[in-house]
Amino acid sequence: MSLPELKINGPFYTDSDFETTELAPSYRIDLRNPTNEHLDQFISANLVSDWSQLTWKEVGKPYEVKTVAKSKLDWERDHGEMSVKTSWEFFNKSFHEWFIKDVPEELSKAKQELKGYLARFKISDVKKALGETVRLSLWNYAHRVEDGIWDPRGKRALFEGLDVRKPRILFLGAAEGYEAMQLYAMYPEGEIVMVDYDDFCRTDRFGHFPDSYPFLGVNPVSGHPKVWHKNEMNVHYVVDDIRNLPFGKEFDIVLSVGLLEHFPDDFKQEAMNWHRKFLKPGGYAIMTTPRLQLKSKLFYMIMADVMNHTYRELMDVRQMGLYVYEGGFDILRHGYIKVHNGIVAQPR
Ligand SMILES: C[S@@+](CC[C@H](N)C(=O)[O-])C[C@H]1O[C@@H](n2cnc3c(N)ncnc32)[C@H](O)[C@@H]1O
Repeated sequence: MSLPELKINGPFYTDSDFETTELAPSYRIDLRNPTNEHLDQFISANLVSDWSQLTWKEVGKPYEVKTVAKSKLDWERDHGEMSVKTSWEFFNKSFHEWFIKDVPEELSKAKQELKGYLARFKISDVKKALGETVRLSLWNYAHRVEDGIWDPRGKRALFEGLDVRKPRILFLGAAEGYEAMQLYAMYPEGEIVMVDYDDFCRTDRFGHFPDSYPFLGVNPVSGHPKVWHKNEMNVHYVVDDIRNLPFGKEFDIVLSVGLLEHFPDDFKQEAMNWHRKFLKPGGYAIMTTPRLQLKSKLFYMIMADVMNHTYRELMDVRQMGLYVYEGGFDILRHGYIKVHNGIVAQPR
């Protein structure tokens, strides 16, 4: 079967592209299974039946990632300890650079360079080029080929079946805002409020998120599947500390992706409270955190200079669930998607 021409820079993907998946230079396009029939394949769900019976003794504590990005170590040598906010600013710049890479082109450049250094026996340059080639290959596999970071099918499986219409969605620590846009496509015509205290997230990570990226969701008029794009969504981006937000209990969904694992235990319940305090009665808190698995440990080790600017843990879904349960939530759905744990919960 021949695929339609890549539409990354051209006309947008539409409903006529259902069932296609393509590799763009920086990410995967995935419009397979628009009717959501097979979504349960993409989540291993509901492994714990009674959270009140689970103890920390049984599940142990999360694994702390201890490797630190070189740019942070260099900065701290000159300036002293880096604040958490500055650490996030370093992280966001560094992570964003990888999302916009033309991966095949950069990989072939890195391999050419490596060959040149090898031929000239420039050992320190060989080491550097080898490191870059390994990082690019891993990024190519994890993000572009496997789509492990955005994981639209896993996220759709996690987000399925919520009892909401035109929801107001609050995204805490929104970065580029991907998951709120996926939710909006599935539950359209409401509003997204993205919050991040790093303005670069608003201007670049979200600001330059490709308009042409297709999110699979639903047409609110016909109820049939529909392709949504960023520029069709009702998004407000607030640049502020989550602790300063003026909102009351006014959101149907409060969402965070990769936030909870950045708080040591003494601060976890404060982070859990953030998910409760803006929710309407009957609203949903949705959270994901990176999974504790060998390939994630390897990822954060190899990508340390790209990723490791802040405190970070890897946990399994039972550990994550215990934090959520102890935070006063009933867990409605929990499970593993590609590289994250996911939980949908409601205040008890
Ligand atoms: C690990 S990131 C979220 C992961 C995201 N999916 C990504 O791709 O980077 C967490 C985000 O939360 C933001 N953040 C952390 N603490 C915050 C706070 N107290 N107030 C506002 N934003 C915060 C950071 O700036 C960062 O962009």
